[in-house]
Amino acid sequence: MISPDIQQRLIDIRRDIHQHPELSWQESRTAAKVCQALDEIGLPYRSNVGGTGVVAEIAGRKEGPYIALRADMDALPIVEETGLPFSSQVEGVMHACAHDGHTSMLLGAAMLLVNGEPPPLPVRLIFQPAEETVLGAKRLIAEGVLENVVMIFGGHIDRHYPCGTLIVTEGAVNASSDKFSIEISGQGGHAARPHEAIDAVVVGSLLVISLQTIVSREINPAHPSVVSIGRFDAGTAGNVIAGHALLEGSIRAQDPEVRSDLHNSIRRIADSVAQLHDAEIRVEIRKGPPPLINTEEMTALARKAALQTVSQDKVIKLFTANMGGEDFAYYLDHVPGCYIRYGAQIPGREGYPAHSSRFDFDEKALGIGATYLATVAREAASLVDS
Ligand code: NI
Repeated sequence: MISPDIQQRLIDIRRDIHQHPELSWQESRTAAKVCQALDEIGLPYRSNVGGTGVVAEIAGRKEGPYIALRADMDALPIVEETGLPFSSQVEGVMHACAHDGHTSMLLGAAMLLVNGEPPPLPVRLIFQPAEETVLGAKRLIAEGVLENVVMIFGGHIDRHYPCGTLIVTEGAVNASSDKFSIEISGQGGHAARPHEAIDAVVVGSLLVISLQTIVSREINPAHPSVVSIGRFDAGTAGNVIAGHALLEGSIRAQDPEVRSDLHNSIRRIADSVAQLHDAEIRVEIRKGPPPLINTEEMTALARKAALQTVSQDKVIKLFTANMGGEDFAYYLDHVPGCYIRYGAQIPGREGYPAHSSRFDFDEKALGIGATYLATVAREAASLVDS
């Protein structure tokens, strides 16, 4: 178990960051706070990595390849309504996805790793900006943070699960997250003379309904997937037929093949609807992170570390498929690793999910997460070194 004074330091750090949330790529105060903590721990680091990233290193018994641990640092554009005494002091910005907690946990892991014997191999700590916009990981990889890294580990606080649990699951634990926009060009006209127009509202409506049949009728129901339209923009007045419409939406899948099937189906249905109504339809799909898939070997390693952190009955699996995206998946395109979840439910506050203005988590999870991260780094280093 983590010592009460480290646990208290982690709570203090988390609350300080929570009070001063910063949006993606603007995490300069947070990064400075991280650097200050690293100075106190006595670790060398590089700041301003890829913008606001910080990368620190813990020496191992040997030189050699690195084990990496990663935390994200950014907040969300949400007005906080938790009423907590350490609520956000920045209007309209809130740590509603627990990245304040992840940052604090990784500093905790650093404290634990430098306190004990040096790990068998060096450990690199990655404090990543801009997870919420899913651009930070890619940028840091381009900056070389994975150079000489053989394995990487991370996790997310999750208030769906009781505090004290660690959720270690093999297979897909986050979905791919792609965005799309569809521009419909018809022909504007007078509402009284529809025969002279090509109605983009009607074309768009048919398209919205048709796209719903992809997941319900084309994809194997055993493979979770989502096609959602979040925006339908068209028209200017009740007596004017709209010549243009814009749809925007989100595509999620846990399987790379299903992901590309979803993309193809959206394009095919859009082309068909265009032909059906003599409209022009342009589809643009912007790829986000791939599905995050924990391999068997890396999951076994994470489970081993989890079992050293909490009792066996507290090491559990995801209750259900998670369709959220997570840019940690980009790291796993390059090196093996595992992504887990830290149970952090506060009894009585179950109804406030991440990204809600009332989101909060049980801070006991900070010490547990820190212990897990330090343990998994040691275990991974021992495995690589053996
Ligand atoms: Ni998050």
